[in-house]
Amino acid sequence: MIERRQDVTIADVTGAYAGAVGEIWEMVMGEEIHVGGGHSTDELAQRAGVTADVHVLDICSALGGPARHLARTYGCRVTGLDATPEMVAEAARRTELAGLSGRVAFKCGNALDIPFRASTFDIIWGQDAWCYVTDKERLISEAARVIRPGGVIAFTDWIQTGVMSESEWEHLVSFMIFPSLGTLEGYAGLLRENGFLVSAADDLSRDFADHCQAYRDTLEGDLRVPIMNRFGSDLYQAVVRGVALWADAADAGKVGRGLWIGRRREI
Ligand SMILES: C[S@@+](CC[C@H](N)C(=O)[O-])C[C@H]1O[C@@H](n2cnc3c(N)ncnc32)[C@H](O)[C@@H]1O
Repeated sequence: MIERRQDVTIADVTGAYAGAVGEIWEMVMGEEIHVGGGHSTDELAQRAGVTADVHVLDICSALGGPARHLARTYGCRVTGLDATPEMVAEAARRTELAGLSGRVAFKCGNALDIPFRASTFDIIWGQDAWCYVTDKERLISEAARVIRPGGVIAFTDWIQTGVMSESEWEHLVSFMIFPSLGTLEGYAGLLRENGFLVSAADDLSRDFADHCQAYRDTLEGDLRVPIMNRFGSDLYQAVVRGVALWADAADAGKVGRGLWIGRRREI
């Protein structure tokens, strides 16, 4: 499904999330590092049918904000998988502090070689993170392996929605350290090829554009001094420029965000 690729390795992504990137995105979005925070998590949870008796695998779980939210709100078990050791350690620390370690656990590992046996999970979960994964085909086939037959996959992601010149595309993905950008239909196709019945492939791009504009405003307003003080003026300026690029491209209908729900066929 992916036509263009940037030369990004998992080490580029984990190196960034071990340092300033994770911290800055948390300042902008909160500890649930995705568009729409807890509200988005609840919407996806309701659509996925999260209940107390399910075991969720959150692929690319970062600080574990969504994992704790799901366990606290719905009473389910959640395992978070992330490739950045620093994010996994911080997620575990916050989970212990929240008193949720009995139901929420984290594992350091690569989404392209998921360190769990086949048919382990009832729900496979992802929020605004699979855009960092270098091989989307392999990611979805790994998700299909570790989900039980009849289980649900539910995720959101940043996607390409319109036509872009090569240089426009390069600027956007290199700012975010994305190896590639999926599309609404591309992910739906991968799900079908891997044995999922797709019940939703929703375009959330207008809401995405509004959020990008809000992030730009916050960066230029309340977050200006805290980010400059913590990371210096050069990094602050680069972040403002990058978010402005995304906000303009989203407003022009070139990039956006999707939501997918699929059910693994019974064998
Ligand atoms: C935007 S954050 C995820 C946010 C999280 N889903 C949330 O809603 O709070 C991206 C995360 O993806 C992780 N990541 C990127 N590529 C990965 C891979 N191949 N396997 C596992 N984790 C990966 C990074 O380490 C980083 O913590």
